[in-house]
Amino acid sequence: MMTTRFCTEFGVDYPIVQGGMQGVGRAELVAAVANAGALGFLTALTQPTPEELTREIARCRELTDRPFGVNLTILPTIDPPPYAEYRDAIISSGVPVVETAGFNPAEHVPAFRAAGVKVLHKCTSVRHAVKAQELGVDGVSIDGFECAGHPGEDDIPGLVLIPAAAERVGIPMIASGGFADSRGLVAALALGAEGINMGTRFLATVEAPVHQAVKERLVEANERETDLIFRPLRNTARVARNSVSRKVVEVLDEGGAFEDVRELVAGSRGREVFETGDLERGVWSAGLAQGLIHDIPRVSELIRRIVAGAEDIVHDRLGALLAGES
Ligand SMILES: Cc1cc2nc3c(=O)[nH]c(=O)nc-3n(C[C@H](O)[C@H](O)[C@H](O)COP(=O)(O)O)c2cc1C
Repeated sequence: MMTTRFCTEFGVDYPIVQGGMQGVGRAELVAAVANAGALGFLTALTQPTPEELTREIARCRELTDRPFGVNLTILPTIDPPPYAEYRDAIISSGVPVVETAGFNPAEHVPAFRAAGVKVLHKCTSVRHAVKAQELGVDGVSIDGFECAGHPGEDDIPGLVLIPAAAERVGIPMIASGGFADSRGLVAALALGAEGINMGTRFLATVEAPVHQAVKERLVEANERETDLIFRPLRNTARVARNSVSRKVVEVLDEGGAFEDVRELVAGSRGREVFETGDLERGVWSAGLAQGLIHDIPRVSELIRRIVAGAEDIVHDRLGALLAGES
């Protein structure tokens, strides 16, 4: 069985993580990931209030008795959600692990640590990973340029970012961005990571609570069909390419301000894509890994396939190379 230090320290069977996904990281998906032996994260801000997050955690517990966590995404907004209250809801519900992401988690790490909640901080650069390690987090996930959502502004793909981070980080490190199958898992381990984090691949599973049309679009789309929006604002996000993402890129490239695209990128419109399957309704996150997605499996089948495939690659393909058999 493929076990890494991450598995032992975070209490899961397999070195596979389902990262927080706004609108998607709900109990059905997270429990399926937990039941399959991997680590899933509910997304705190998908719940409109901390009280509803507490209820969602309880709902997830009814669906699994395996460990799972909660993602707390800290974004710089004019009108921020009550982060401290979400944090306290996470702590008091007794989940064993939190995935922090976005801004520097310094404000929240001491409270999590004091309560014995492990912190897996997700970031997009070596310097931020080193900083998180100094803050005392238990592990880091590093999102390369390939990832869905916010890849940062450095544009360093995983092939360089992951080994560069491995040279500087001593705590368990998870490679993220562009991973979808067993080949990616073996590559991540070879690059110095202790597992993989996936978002886009989990979006195209039976249990992901999004419209079937979204999943089918991921199967159909290739690796060239994403857009980077908000580049001129230095708040880059990778989304599935559609008429709305094209328009947003065009307006901002021509010198437009956020106000000029605010309505197009409204979170409510993105939610409608997931709920109604109208793929042109708004912007929705997807990564380059969509080019590697060819079906819509159940989560258990996906995890089984990735783990078994990785073991085969190591034993058979790479083992044969060492034995001089190919
Ligand atoms: C639909 C969707 C929504 C996401 N929302 C969040 C989020 O709210 N917070 C977060 O930290 N990451 C979010 N992510 C990023 C994932 O957790 C993960 O880091 C990323 O998808 C990894 O890259 P991959 O898509 O190539 O696997 C989202 C990803 C997707 C596909």
